[in-house]
Amino acid sequence: MTETLVPPAIDGDGVAPPETGTRHLFIKTYGCQMNVYDSERMADVLRPLGYATTDSPEDADFVILNTCHIREKAAEKVYSELGKLRELKDARARNSTTATGNSKTPMIIAVAGCVAQAEGEEIMRRQPAVDLVVGPQAYHQLPELLTRTARARGERIGADFAPNAKFDAMSSERIGPRGVKGPTAFLTVQEGCDKFCTFCVVPYTRGAEWSRPVADILIEARALAERGVREITLLGQNVNAYNGAGPDGAPSTLARLAHALAEIPGLDRLRYTTSHPNDMSEDLIAAHGELDVLMPYLHLPVQSGSDRILRLMNRKHGQKTYLDVIDRMRRVRPDMAISGDFIVGFPGETDRDFADTLNLVRQVNYASAFSFMYSPRPGTPAAAMAGQVPEAVARERLHALQALLFEQQTAFNTSQTGKTLPVLFERKGRNPGQAIGRSPYLQSVHVENGEHLLGRIVAVEIESGTQNSLAGRLVEQKAA
Ligand code: SAH
Ligand code: SF4
Ligand code: F3S
Repeated sequence: MTETLVPPAIDGDGVAPPETGTRHLFIKTYGCQMNVYDSERMADVLRPLGYATTDSPEDADFVILNTCHIREKAAEKVYSELGKLRELKDARARNSTTATGNSKTPMIIAVAGCVAQAEGEEIMRRQPAVDLVVGPQAYHQLPELLTRTARARGERIGADFAPNAKFDAMSSERIGPRGVKGPTAFLTVQEGCDKFCTFCVVPYTRGAEWSRPVADILIEARALAERGVREITLLGQNVNAYNGAGPDGAPSTLARLAHALAEIPGLDRLRYTTSHPNDMSEDLIAAHGELDVLMPYLHLPVQSGSDRILRLMNRKHGQKTYLDVIDRMRRVRPDMAISGDFIVGFPGETDRDFADTLNLVRQVNYASAFSFMYSPRPGTPAAAMAGQVPEAVARERLHALQALLFEQQTAFNTSQTGKTLPVLFERKGRNPGQAIGRSPYLQSVHVENGEHLLGRIVAVEIESGTQNSLAGRLVEQKAA
C-alpha cells in the first residue's frame, strides 16, 4: 500500500449508453488497492447511466477523486488537485457551447474515499467547486446523488458505515457485470479494521471489520473468471480476519474461502492483501501447502522490529510472533516471498529501537517492502504522544532502512536468474512486441516478442534481474 498515485484502472466495457448520449467520467485514484477496486465499482455503477471512462479530466462531465487519508501528504494532494479541477470546471462553464452548438452541462466534481469520510465538511469549505462528498460505504448511491446534484449542490453522504448495503446494491445481478480490463482483478472480501494501531486512521475512515458472505464472493469471482480473469487478489484492510458467512450460515475463514475459489475453472492464481500477523491462522498457513492457486507471496506488515515501539503502536504482537509466523509459512512453502510495511520515526523511537527494525529486516530477508516516515494523523493517539521524532532523524532512518530493503529486493530478483518461472502476461511493454507479466512472487517480468501472450500463463526463463523487475525469454507456450 502506498500513497502514490494509481493510474485510473477503469475502462468502459461496451455497454450501450442511453439515448442521452455518452457522458465522460474521469476517476483519479489515490491510496490502497481497496480504493482501486472501489473506483472500478463506481465506474460500473455509473456505466448504465451512460458514463464512459476517460483518462483526461478536460473531457469529463463528472470527475471523482477517490482519496486516501493515511498520511498527511496523501490528504493534502487532494486539495491541490481540486484547485486544478476548479479551473477546468470554470473554463468549461465559460465555454459551455460546443463547436456543434450543443450546450455542455457543468462539470460535476465529487470527492470519494477516506478523505471524504474524514474531512467531509472541511472539503466543502476549502473548495466550493466540489459538488459531492461521498464516503466509502455510499458509492452505490452515486446514481441517485447525481440526479439530486442537478438540483442542489453541497451533498455529503455516507458518513455512516453500512458496507453490506453497498455490496448488495452493487452486485452484478443489480448493475450488470464488472468492467474487467486484463487478466488480473481485485475483489474486496473484507472492509474495515478493529485493530486501532495508534498511528492509523483506517478504523475511523473505513469503520469496523465486516466480511462479505462466501456466496457473493463466489458469484463475483466466477463472473470474473468467465470474462478471462486468471488471477484474483482478495482485498481487505485485514483480509486474513475474513469471517464472512459460509454456505451453512456459519462464519467461514479466508482459508476456506480460498479452497472454494480454487474450484473455479480458469482461475489459476489467488493472492490476498493486507494481512495482520495476529490473524495468520493455522488453516491459512496450511492452505499454502494444499492449494497450488495460492501464490507464494505474503504481504505482512510489521511496522517496527522493536517490541517497545510495537507496544506503543498497539500492534498487539511482538517481533517474535511476527518472525514465528514467517517461519511457519516458510516451513509449508520454502520459497515464500515476504513483503512488509514499515514506519520509521514513530514517537519515542530511539536509535536502539531502529536498530531492532534493521535486525528484523535482516532476519526476514524481504522480497519487497514499503517504508514510510511516521506522519501524525489528526485524532489518532500517537499524534498526541510525547517524544515526536525530528523529521531529519526520521528521514535518515528511512534512507538507511530503504538501502537495506532495496539491497534485499535486488538480491531476491537477481537470484531468479537461470530459473524458469510461470508468468501471467498482463500488458504490452514500452518497446514494440514486448509483454509484461508477473511471476508467482509478484515480480514484473519483461519478455520480447510476447504480445500474443497477454492473458496467458507461460514459462519464462529468467535471464536477468534488477531492483524492480526481471527480464527473460519464452521457453514454451503452454496452451492456457
Ligand atoms: N491494514 C494494513 C495496512 C494499513 S495502511 C496493516 O495493518 O498493515 C498501509 C500502511 O501505511 C501501514 O502498514 C503503515 O505502514 C502505513 N501507515 C499507516 N498509518 C501511517 C502513518 N500515520 N504514518 C506513516 N505511515 C503510516
Ligand atoms: Fe491501520 Fe493497524 Fe488497522 Fe492496519 S491493522 S488498518 S495499520 S489500524
Ligand atoms: Fe488510504 Fe483509506 Fe486505503 S486511508 S490506504 S485509501 S483505506
